[in-house]
Amino acid sequence: MKRIAIFASGSGSNAENIYDYFKANDKVEVSLILTNNSTAKVIERANRLAIPCEIFDRQQFYETTKIVDLLKSKNVDLIVLAGFLWLIPEQLVKAFPDKIINIHPALLPKYGGKGMYGDKVHESVVANNEKESGITIHYVNEKYDEGNVIFQAKCEVLPSDNASDLAQKIHALEYQHFPVVIEKLLFARI
Ligand code: GAR
Repeated sequence: MKRIAIFASGSGSNAENIYDYFKANDKVEVSLILTNNSTAKVIERANRLAIPCEIFDRQQFYETTKIVDLLKSKNVDLIVLAGFLWLIPEQLVKAFPDKIINIHPALLPKYGGKGMYGDKVHESVVANNEKESGITIHYVNEKYDEGNVIFQAKCEVLPSDNASDLAQKIHALEYQHFPVVIEKLLFARI
């Protein structure tokens, strides 16, 4: 059995999409959802899907080994950041080398870095009249959005698109590609 842990800070629609993709697969399990946000919609999703859910605060995340210990105790094979907004501490990166990936809603290295998340990314892309945007799936290191790129996919940005139109296109790309990339990584086909 391959075990996935998903970190999310908000809605968690990618987390649910990943769960749906693997639910009929008896070789892959979403074993744990983790969040820093006690009011995040992802908690409702985890409860509905009967996925164990861990809520943690800044002190636990950065100053204790609680989360690393939990992930180790669950024998997690891959850690997936899906809309998770905090920087990953060095102890977690070191505990899971090349086993932590993130999805970013733009074509990195453009529109990355601290404070660039969700709709803020799409607003900047639209404000700059970009002709295209897309998604980037990358390994995670101790800096925001700087790990090696694993996969990118593009979409067109039309002059008439606003940030919410673009968000829809980006989410569609995420739902299509993220689980497939995760599956390839789990079975070392990438
Ligand atoms: C996704 O679009 C993801 O790429 C983005 O947050 C959204 C979460 O949506 N992540 C970042 O911006 C990270 N910098 P979801 O909660 O519905 O899956």
